[in-house]
Amino acid sequence: MLTTMSRPKVLVAMKLVPEIAIDLLRKRFDVEVCDSIPITRTEMMKKVPGKFAIFCSALSKIDEELIKTAGSSLKVVGTISVGYDHVDLTAMKKYGVRLGYTPHVLSETVAETTVGLLIATTRRFFEANHALKTGGWKDVTTVVWMNWMCGRGIRNSVVGIVGCGNIGTSIARKLKTFDISQLLYTSRTEKPAVKALGGKLVTIDELVEQSDFIILSIALNEDTKFIINRERIAKMKSHAVLVNIGRGGLIDQDALIEALQENRIGGAGLDVMTPEPLPLDSPLMKMDNVVLLPHIGSASIETRAEMAILTAKNIIAVLDNTAMPNEVKY
Ligand code: DGY
Repeated sequence: MLTTMSRPKVLVAMKLVPEIAIDLLRKRFDVEVCDSIPITRTEMMKKVPGKFAIFCSALSKIDEELIKTAGSSLKVVGTISVGYDHVDLTAMKKYGVRLGYTPHVLSETVAETTVGLLIATTRRFFEANHALKTGGWKDVTTVVWMNWMCGRGIRNSVVGIVGCGNIGTSIARKLKTFDISQLLYTSRTEKPAVKALGGKLVTIDELVEQSDFIILSIALNEDTKFIINRERIAKMKSHAVLVNIGRGGLIDQDALIEALQENRIGGAGLDVMTPEPLPLDSPLMKMDNVVLLPHIGSASIETRAEMAILTAKNIIAVLDNTAMPNEVKY
């Protein structure tokens, strides 16, 4: 039996991780949990030397400097996220550090958030709620009632999903029940599950031109950065609603802001943006045709617990020299 002194060390670089996941780690590791939210870079750099593992969220940048500072003891980073654009994979590979992540367990929750955000944006829930709370409702006479707070419905519309992995497929399944007229999607290869729903594989340009609702559920990497650029925004229908639950970097945000300000598209529902948190003086904050959420796609109590347990299991697998439940291969 190893003594506590000789046990490998894990840094949990975030607060309030469910106890069930911390307990799993404590059985095998000497666990240090950070007590500031969010953990600062300076604190991270101070705490990583000598650690075997880092348990972190997408808010922590894992780059070469940090990996070098951790030293040769560092064998695994477990990120409690499906996205890993905050991790420098080249540096991880160079120093032989493995990466665990949390796909699958959050797909349904993120898909639920997406559908909610889509409806809230196109049916103007937040604008209507604001009007109600600030006295705007009392002024609605029968003359303006016909159009007041009307938005475009989802039934009979063309929905385009950019990136049809687990999350995109779940969104497709949910939106099919809304009696949409056509489901378009982009993917590197045809997805049998989406095809079975009637989904048509198209190019990104066909998708942006033909869709009434455009949903981004694709990972951010070199190939997908600014996949929604100025040119593609210009090709969108004038009533198109763009929903992003991937990463802010998928969109040229300045070009999007211009298009929204000039009412060249219908609106945008963004769970992710650039930067995060979005500064309060961002023009996006002032727009009625924009719904913003603070990156809460996977934020259900049950899902976050599952993500935490999976992250712990990914880390423990490296100690046991067994296959990680979910490893990023490089
Ligand atoms: C993810 O899991 O990647 C979510 O966006 C949370 O960071």
